[in-house]
Amino acid sequence: MTEPTGPLTVLGVETSCDETAAAVVRRGADGRVEVLSSVIASQIAAHAPFGGVVPEIAARAHVEIIDDIIRRAMAEAGLDFGGLSGVAATAGPGLVGGVMVGLSAGKAIALARGLPLVAVNHLEGHAVSARLGADIAYPFLLLLVSGGHCQLLAVEGVGACRRLGSTIDDAAGEAFDKIAKAMGLPYPGGPALEALAQGGDGARFPLPRALLGRDGCDFSFSGLKTAAARLAAGLTGEQDRRDLADAVQAAIARQLADRSERAMAAYARAREGQDLRFVVAGGVAANRTVRRVLEETAARRGFSFSAPPLAYCTDNAAMIALAGAERLAAGLTDGLDAVARPRWPLDEAAAKANPVHIPGRKGAKA
Ligand code: KG4
Ligand code: ZN
Repeated sequence: MTEPTGPLTVLGVETSCDETAAAVVRRGADGRVEVLSSVIASQIAAHAPFGGVVPEIAARAHVEIIDDIIRRAMAEAGLDFGGLSGVAATAGPGLVGGVMVGLSAGKAIALARGLPLVAVNHLEGHAVSARLGADIAYPFLLLLVSGGHCQLLAVEGVGACRRLGSTIDDAAGEAFDKIAKAMGLPYPGGPALEALAQGGDGARFPLPRALLGRDGCDFSFSGLKTAAARLAAGLTGEQDRRDLADAVQAAIARQLADRSERAMAAYARAREGQDLRFVVAGGVAANRTVRRVLEETAARRGFSFSAPPLAYCTDNAAMIALAGAERLAAGLTDGLDAVARPRWPLDEAAAKANPVHIPGRKGAKA
């Protein structure tokens, strides 16, 4: 197809986990981005009694409200479907029952209105999310840290990623969630643990430093998770709990920084004399300690530092709409036969060549 010129206005739909979200984003021909609306309905209350996301509950909840969420996003943008250039829906990876709901809704609108459909990889949404708040040029080094994913990627352009490292067990957000659960904190654990860590002194709890100083850019959080859960079981005092929360947060931030620093060194070697950009995205990028430690690391290595506005760190549809708009601008669209994919690595070639990076991911968001 010919590449569209002029501004593109795209409806994004996101239902891959426990947020039902729709948003309208306008991308100018010059690449300037404007979020016209972003509506997110969280299912946290429905899943909280179970301490995590229940796939069947998630899928049913998406079905019940997706129409209303899309209607609200269109109304807040002040548009009807005729004002759209295309529809972008998350097609994976995620809980496939939920993914099918949003993808089917996107297909229905595309079919009824004769609009192009873009089947978006949720991770590509996170990869572009920092561009919702600032003009960040390609290429950049990306640390994607969410509930289901923890990986370092060289992002060369739209849909062009090379993975430098990923977790060999849990994702960073998953570690936050599981440790928080062991400490009796509510789901999702990341924000609750960050709040508890306020006023804590983690120095008294030496936690394992997995892979620290080791070659490569892979991550591992399972040892930390086990050690923290064991310590948590023996603590009752509020200050002890604050101190442990602080220690956990610092340990996760330290590992993210250590692995990122290795990736920065390798990335910079191949790009001498070029502008070096480091971007962190995903739910864990909302954590202030993580942001601060990574910003210091980037500065030390001569990289600029960017993170999405807080509202676009965790799952949202604005990032899906933007990823869709970028693909649409590049002439990349999908047929109405696009499938929902529970697993969908960003760099499929590398994932196939190095299968250690395919499995090993568990949890609701894998
Ligand atoms: O990106 P996201 O909404 O969903 C996935 O695609 O996985 O990320 C959710 C994850 C959860 O594990 C949550 O605990 C974590 O991000 N998270 C945080 C914070 N806010 C969300 N972790 C640490 N500190 C936070 N402030
Ligand atoms: Zn996500």
